[in-house]
Amino acid sequence: MTWFTHDRFGMFVHWGLYALAARHEWVKTRERMTDEEYQVYFDHFDPDRYDPAGWARTAKAAGMRYVVLTTKHHDGFCLWDSDLTDYTVAGTPYGKDLIGPFVEACRAEGLKVGFYHSLIDWHHPSFPVDGTHPRRDEVNFKGGGDIADYRRYLHGQVRELLTRYGTIDYLFFDFSYEGRKEWWGGKGADDWGAAELLAMVRDLQPGILVNDRTGLPGDFVTPEQYQPTGALAEVWEACQTLNGSWGYDRDNLDYKSAELLIRMLVDGVAKGGNLLLNVGPNGRGEIDRRARDILAEIGAWMDLHERSIRGCGPSAFEPPPDCRFTQNGDRLYLHLFSWPPRHVHLPGLAGRVRYAQLLDDASEIRRVVTDPDQAAQNTRMGGQPPGTLTLELPVQRPRTAVPVIELFLDT
Ligand code: GLC
Repeated sequence: MTWFTHDRFGMFVHWGLYALAARHEWVKTRERMTDEEYQVYFDHFDPDRYDPAGWARTAKAAGMRYVVLTTKHHDGFCLWDSDLTDYTVAGTPYGKDLIGPFVEACRAEGLKVGFYHSLIDWHHPSFPVDGTHPRRDEVNFKGGGDIADYRRYLHGQVRELLTRYGTIDYLFFDFSYEGRKEWWGGKGADDWGAAELLAMVRDLQPGILVNDRTGLPGDFVTPEQYQPTGALAEVWEACQTLNGSWGYDRDNLDYKSAELLIRMLVDGVAKGGNLLLNVGPNGRGEIDRRARDILAEIGAWMDLHERSIRGCGPSAFEPPPDCRFTQNGDRLYLHLFSWPPRHVHLPGLAGRVRYAQLLDDASEIRRVVTDPDQAAQNTRMGGQPPGTLTLELPVQRPRTAVPVIELFLDT
């Protein structure tokens, strides 16, 4: 877990045939497409601008230190040349393995390698139709298929992925939905053979981190498209999109700002969590310009403020309103989501801080301890509760997405 809770920030990559439809990765089921209707994307999948080294450089420059790529999504299309099906990249006009170059590119940039693998498979004939399936209206019953046969396929493909590409650091299974009435009662750990699957995963890749979505506990939990309101008991990683869609969604302009995403990253670390931020490359294999611009802005902030994130976790100190604390040993980082008028008051930190500076330019931030009994007068600030440290702030908010003050604690 050490690298995971140290690195804090990763890139999620959702890529596959749905990138050509360019309207969300669930397009096949949302539009109830038949295999024949969806085949047009297979027949035209030829990402001539696929450049995993460029993806890895983009991730690293954004401050991300691990990258997680979809090996197979719910549509069943495989980004590697599996021996267990013809529904792979090998049969497309592109024709070449996509996973190997991705793994090598990540390693070349010193990034940890992660796979996403869908438990759900809307293409495999043995996957029993259920409420998530594109054919749900045709067969309007839960059943069909041979889940035991599908389990063998699922385990066989995971074995391929964990034996063909060297050390894999992280595995994101997706997803169990047992008991979900709207999806005909769903599927869960028993359907996947999760206990046996996880045992095989850990046998093949002893150091791998596996998530919680097989329906059995994993190494970390995976809040999705929301931020937990507080620290969680488990190690956790929030996975978030730029615009609400995991797969490329051409006409979706609902992108989050870089500043909001930086605040989400900070918020997560302040609560002991990671952020896995998604990109959905397009049908030519490129991360779209909007996404790249946002990641570059995040990278510019991380370039100056990395040490307030990397290796940091929650603090026992209570931050002021609109602020978050992250901490790494005797360094306490105050992240200011809004810029107070001249002063910020830190309860319980009087006498605990030997120096304070703005992180972006290492300019001193002066500390003031007010007398708790001091009544406010013309030019003298009223006292704060005992033990409060007051910092004097420049009137001008630093020109950075989230200003950070680095506090050097007296140990
Ligand atoms: C949900 C979506 C899936 C996406 C995943 C990412 O499970 O169904 O499309 O890949 O979230 O966590």
